[in-house]
Amino acid sequence: MRLRKIPEARTVVGNNPIVITETAARSQINQWQQLFGKAQPLYLEIGCGRGRFITESAAAYPDINWIGWELREEMLLMTLRRLEQPLTNLRLIWGDASYIDQVFAAGEINRVYLNFPDPWPKNRHAKRRLTSVSFLKRYQQILAADGQILFKSDDKNFFDISQENFASEKWQQAAAGIAVEPDKIISEYEARYRRQGKAIYYCQYQRR
Ligand SMILES: C[S@@+](CC[C@H](N)C(=O)[O-])C[C@H]1O[C@@H](n2cnc3c(N)ncnc32)[C@H](O)[C@@H]1O
Repeated sequence: MRLRKIPEARTVVGNNPIVITETAARSQINQWQQLFGKAQPLYLEIGCGRGRFITESAAAYPDINWIGWELREEMLLMTLRRLEQPLTNLRLIWGDASYIDQVFAAGEINRVYLNFPDPWPKNRHAKRRLTSVSFLKRYQQILAADGQILFKSDDKNFFDISQENFASEKWQQAAAGIAVEPDKIISEYEARYRRQGKAIYYCQYQRR
């Protein structure tokens, strides 16, 4: 996603109490529920971008604790600007989600959302894909026994490669296909692709 550098982003994001750096997030392992007002299911969106999906979800579903994880401070700044008031059930992690298995304990997450992750089409970048076998193994570790992943993409090739990875890692497919009707809450990218008339591929998997 193209977004110009915003000089104040690092300071504003770094000083916001709902943002936790990836390094600080590691000390929170197995204690995430204590950060929120109430202990309740914990849902994570990785690569939350400008935050449309995560902020609207947290506002619409207060009985779920939500975490958005994003690499770029400019995106997190946009997410913070969307929040009219702080939500007690929302936190944001700033940094690289590759360290996910050092940030969450086994079974600590109930659901992972992957909304339109970067497809990284070149083979030499395959490891960066959020649906690579190596990421799927880490999700398997942090998800609760009945935990799920919901994944969407506009990129058929990336979607198909991802399906092969889920299958080779023996995840149980609960749903897959083209999402004709939009869900109640959609991400920024999904809104854009729908305006462009693109097909939206989606799938849902249960951990094995
Ligand atoms: C294509 S955008 C999609 C944004 C949003 N999910 C949506 O659907 O509108 C992908 C986002 O993932 C973030 N991202 C990519 N790799 C990441 C990683 N390893 N850890 C955290 N965020 C990552 C990027 O910075 C970018 O904001």
